[in-house]
Amino acid sequence: MKIFLDTANIEEIRKASELGVVDGVTTNPSLIAKEGRRFEDVVKEICSIVDGPISAETVTEMADTMVEEAVRLSKIHPNIVVKIPMTAEGLKAVSECRKRGIKTNVTLIFSANQALLAAKAGANYVSPFVGRLDDNTEYGMDLVERIVSIFHNYVYDTEVIVASVRNPIHVLEAAQMGADIATVPYSVLMQMLKHPLTDIGIQKFLSDWKKVPKE
Ligand code: E4P
Repeated sequence: MKIFLDTANIEEIRKASELGVVDGVTTNPSLIAKEGRRFEDVVKEICSIVDGPISAETVTEMADTMVEEAVRLSKIHPNIVVKIPMTAEGLKAVSECRKRGIKTNVTLIFSANQALLAAKAGANYVSPFVGRLDDNTEYGMDLVERIVSIFHNYVYDTEVIVASVRNPIHVLEAAQMGADIATVPYSVLMQMLKHPLTDIGIQKFLSDWKKVPKE
């Protein structure tokens, strides 16, 4: 499974990419707003750090303006994937982008039918938001299981990005279900990496090593 980083924070992206496990980055307007910098500048800098798909989101609501945004964003770097919200206008924009060879990630997916329509419109990626479903007392990972099984039944090249990830169990289950990608906040990546028994084991090895005669 590919791991994307779900952040627009350059320091987090740098630190995580040094680990050699980051295949791409997803951003959204809320994540960009936290950085207090120009959108294009942030996206450009992310593209210079991570050599993989970088999602940058449109912020208009009509298909024609979304396509204009998509054209502008896709010129920033060949790795840009334009994130488009799951609406009727969004689907129109996705299908136009497909014709123009612009990659898209349909975001704010909360049902399997939405994912199916996005795939049919030509989305390269769909992003089911599992954490926000959990917050709404619906089991978010059920949605991922459904989408993965639907895409498995037919010949779609659309990849499933498990988004709105809140904890390492989301990532684990995404991998078990065969999702293509999980996009994770930096904090979740760090949680995945750590285990207290690893730390205890290292301390024990290092203290025992001191007992080994060196000459
Ligand atoms: C990624 O594509 C989404 O924008 C992001 O995962 C949303 O996460 P949140 O629900 O924690 O805001």
